[in-house]
Amino acid sequence: MTDSGASGPATPSRPVPRAPGAIAPRPPRAPDQRGGELEPPVSAERLERRKFTWLGLTAFFAAMGGCTVKFFFPRTLMEPKTRFKIGRPGDYGFGVDDRLQDKYRIWVCRDATKIYVISAVCTHLGCTPNWVPGLGKFKCPCHGSGYDSAGVNFEGPAPRPMDRCHVEIAPDGQIVVDVTKTYRADKDQWGKEGAFLPV
Ligand code: FES
Repeated sequence: MTDSGASGPATPSRPVPRAPGAIAPRPPRAPDQRGGELEPPVSAERLERRKFTWLGLTAFFAAMGGCTVKFFFPRTLMEPKTRFKIGRPGDYGFGVDDRLQDKYRIWVCRDATKIYVISAVCTHLGCTPNWVPGLGKFKCPCHGSGYDSAGVNFEGPAPRPMDRCHVEIAPDGQIVVDVTKTYRADKDQWGKEGAFLPV
């Protein structure tokens, strides 16, 4: 009687035919020294991919951190001063001084009896005219309005003279200008106290 069970020599298993397109089964991993499975070596391509992933994440979190800081410390818009000192009356000679046009948008004017400050705002649509010393006039670059050295309109679409700013003398002898208080010629305000400084 023959034993057809486990006592015979082991026969090598034959490969099982796979259907076309089927995924091959993963080969078993070799055991490591401690009896576990050895991790397959990480390829250089995979290492590079990991590096890029970390770089991307780092950049993302850095950008998020920047946004958070900006949120808590928003940029502030620095408004120009509206009341300021511009020096002493003796600092200004006869005529139109345009040194403060860019900084404060004013001109300081002096004639035989007074100092006054013109607001450099065209009364047509609000552009900033320029002082043209050769022509002795202010000329607006937007639509061509012209004003004489006292700020009185005489050409172009400007409907009235430019306004004058409030002026006073501070305890230290300097001229203080307040551009929020203005005096209009068409309202007969140029002779009011504060519209000029007698000299
Ligand atoms: Fe000055 Fe129009 S804004 S002429």
